[in-house]
Amino acid sequence: MKHIVVFTGAGISAESGLGTFRDSGGLWDNYRIEDVATPEAFKRDPSLVLDFYNIRRKQLLESDPNNAHISLNKLCEKFKLSIITQNVDDLHERSGSVDVLHLHGHLRQARSIMDNKIYSIKGSDLNIGDLCPNGFQLRPNIVWFGEDVPNMDIAIEKVMQADIFIIIGTSLNVYPAASLINYASRAERIILVDPEPLSYPNIEIISEKANKAVPELVEELLVL
Ligand code: OAD
Repeated sequence: MKHIVVFTGAGISAESGLGTFRDSGGLWDNYRIEDVATPEAFKRDPSLVLDFYNIRRKQLLESDPNNAHISLNKLCEKFKLSIITQNVDDLHERSGSVDVLHLHGHLRQARSIMDNKIYSIKGSDLNIGDLCPNGFQLRPNIVWFGEDVPNMDIAIEKVMQADIFIIIGTSLNVYPAASLINYASRAERIILVDPEPLSYPNIEIISEKANKAVPELVEELLVL
């Protein structure tokens, strides 16, 4: 069985109603990274940071997977499928995907500032005074700028095994995640789905939105 590895970014969830980061009007137009997405920001103003992620979590709870998330699962009829996502939403899992690796953490998880143990967040909000069982403040389980990406080595291993590598909806701006493309040395095809794609040598580009393009690509791969 051939192995398809899919690497996703915010663009795959855009048509589920979750904003991207760097498109015009995206999250980073309205917030400064250094105010809401760094460990220093959390030390300086934890309420502001918690509120930022509480808003994201609320939106996520009101969103559903779209055809791009859902159709990827059909690939399991013929291929081994692994998904690596930079997204902190759970739309891949809610669409039925099983092998999903999160590089940048998970919105619906909290982490103790004391020992990094992970807890699930029941509702939408994580607040000051929400403590781990040992009495330490919980923070969102998000990989902030300047922090290590603990799942990066596992992701590299997966990409190195890919027979087909599909990239969907990412500006490939954030490292080390963006460097994954360099590890797809075994892949017979590398395909990028993005309405505003960067151009790379030896990559097939589908310059369309994911909700339309991904189901079509899946059908094409299944009949080959
Ligand atoms: P970006 O916002 O940087 O890029 C989103 C990409 O999605 C762009 O290339 C868009 O052209 C594309 N796009 C927009 N709508 C689309 C659609 N309907 N279908 C397909 N593609 C579409 O988001 P990421 O590349 O995911 O990290 O950002 C990477 C990381 O930067 C995030 O994980 C986050 C952010 O800061 C952290 O917060 C740690």
